[in-house]
Amino acid sequence: MTLDIIAIDGPAGSGKSTVAHALAERLGWRVLDTGAMYRAVTVEVLRHGLDPHDEAAVADVAHAAVIATRPRVSINGRDVHDEIRTDAVNVGVSAVAANPAVRAAMVERQRALADAEPGGLVVEGRDITTVVFPDARVKIYLTATLDERARRRADEGHESVARRDHADASRQASPLRRSHDATIVDTTGRSVEQVVEEIVQCLKNTTSS
Ligand code: DC
Repeated sequence: MTLDIIAIDGPAGSGKSTVAHALAERLGWRVLDTGAMYRAVTVEVLRHGLDPHDEAAVADVAHAAVIATRPRVSINGRDVHDEIRTDAVNVGVSAVAANPAVRAAMVERQRALADAEPGGLVVEGRDITTVVFPDARVKIYLTATLDERARRRADEGHESVARRDHADASRQASPLRRSHDATIVDTTGRSVEQVVEEIVQCLKNTTSS
């Protein structure tokens, strides 16, 4: 497995995706957006007319799924890059992501993707520092006030962001929580550059220690 992993967790709108991409650009690393994987499964579930709460049926879809996140998100060879951001997916994804069998299938794929990665990888999600890569070189918990996060996700709406946060943090299987040894980075009112700089400093500290 690549030894160079920066793991980033945090709630919706905390800046994970923006920060992960800027950080990867700065370091010449790649990004793995794990939320896109749960979203892609949700697209496939809805396309088959399945109920996202039907645990067995959704697990079957996840087990059979071939998912790519780069350069565009696809599932079973179908481009779903734009479809993963629709309201229907925002609503359905929490139930899909709460399904333990789906999580097991996604975690396995995430580790395999990292294994195949020749260089450094920035991985962002909800359980990356706690479950997927607890031994990552740098572990970050990004946060921001709900108002700021809802403003960043204006297209999704305050209520939907709050509902997803609650679902992600209160589910049984790998809920969003802060790893005791993750560095907390509050992005409220700060520029992407400032946040990236702070994380780069964390990385440098691991090299010198
Ligand atoms: O980061 P995002 O908003 O694209 O994530 C979509 C959903 O997927 C989110 O509501 C929670 C879930 N998710 C998860 O449970 N575990 C991850 N590692 C990433 C996302």
